[in-house]
Amino acid sequence: LITDVRLREILDSRGNPTVEADVVTESGGFGRAAAPSGASTGEYEAIERPSGEAIAAARERAVPRLVGDAYAGNQREVDAILRAADGTDNFAEIGANSAVAISMAAAKAGADVLGAPLFQHLGGTFRGNSFPTPLGNVVGGGEHATDATDIQEFLAAPVGAPSVQDAVFANAAVHAAVADVLDERDEPAGKGDEGAWAPSVTDAEAFEIVDDAVGRVEDEVGFEIGFGLDVAASELYDADADEYVYSDRTRSTDEQIAYVADLVSEYDLVYVEDPLDEDDYDAYAELTDRTGDETLICGDDLFVTNVDRLRTGIDGGAANAILIKPNQIGTLSDAFDAIELATEHGYEAVVSHRSGETEDATIAHLAVATDAAFIKTGAVGGERTAKLNELIRIEDDAL
Ligand code: PGA
Ligand code: ZN
Repeated sequence: LITDVRLREILDSRGNPTVEADVVTESGGFGRAAAPSGASTGEYEAIERPSGEAIAAARERAVPRLVGDAYAGNQREVDAILRAADGTDNFAEIGANSAVAISMAAAKAGADVLGAPLFQHLGGTFRGNSFPTPLGNVVGGGEHATDATDIQEFLAAPVGAPSVQDAVFANAAVHAAVADVLDERDEPAGKGDEGAWAPSVTDAEAFEIVDDAVGRVEDEVGFEIGFGLDVAASELYDADADEYVYSDRTRSTDEQIAYVADLVSEYDLVYVEDPLDEDDYDAYAELTDRTGDETLICGDDLFVTNVDRLRTGIDGGAANAILIKPNQIGTLSDAFDAIELATEHGYEAVVSHRSGETEDATIAHLAVATDAAFIKTGAVGGERTAKLNELIRIEDDAL
């Protein structure tokens, strides 16, 4: 039984305040978790309130309903209480930041009471037998860095790695190889919010650089490393002009579809996230049709971890993968439901960090618990390695 829920503001990786929750149970169980925060957020995400307001509202509305009434180990009950306490369908009152911090902290307290690792508590006996491939952000721009690429993320995808540990190290090696290539090309670069290199190069140059770096590491490690993208196209799309606005030109929707399809075949991309605007299911369906089963077309801003939006996508044949960010929807139960619906319809699930992160490693456990195909949580930097190192530990414990 939950006996206390404490909420406080802590720092995220951008230096902004975010919500941290502690959940304490009668039997001495304890869980602590913190909300991440996006910069290129989708229009249909649950509401992130300023953390001070979110904490005050959650203390008033949600905490009294949880304390003395809910069991931390009963995730469905905890999350239903959070929804009822909020009363809106997008957590506009207590904030998805308060909701997700409490939801994840309760899960950890529940696991603590059971004496089980979090992934096992979340996944049960019949899941958690496979490990996700980590997608490592190695070059980026968009909303995550100024004066860098238009495409938000260039992601290493070590699909042939024999273990999570090998995959995590391969992504770090690609990140280092990109630095070498940049150095050879005399292109100085700082890093963006997720730790990816953010050089002032065109997207075409970035493709050459990443392709080169991936090839070098592939030769070293001897297993297949692909690469992929998060275009974050809603940030490029100008609705009034109905076109995608790049630094050097614009593209109509048809041109955008053709551009991405050409990139997929030229670079054998294994993964493309948000290639089109978040409102354009039809264009998604056309692209998915063109690129085929070999490439994951993944909806982030398109689906926002929301089962209703995912169902629309499934019905129309838009995409074949969904990005899962618990804070986009507000609770672990909702995130879990989105993964279940996706899996039932042959969509892959890709569990993801946000650009603003903390040391919280819940998503590593969520990815293992749900047998997600991929996890996207950066390549380097403490708030990213918190998740990557947790995956390595889970794998080590399991073997
Ligand atoms: P965000 O970006 O966390 O800034 O929204 C990550 C993404 O678009 O995948
Ligand atoms: Zn994205």
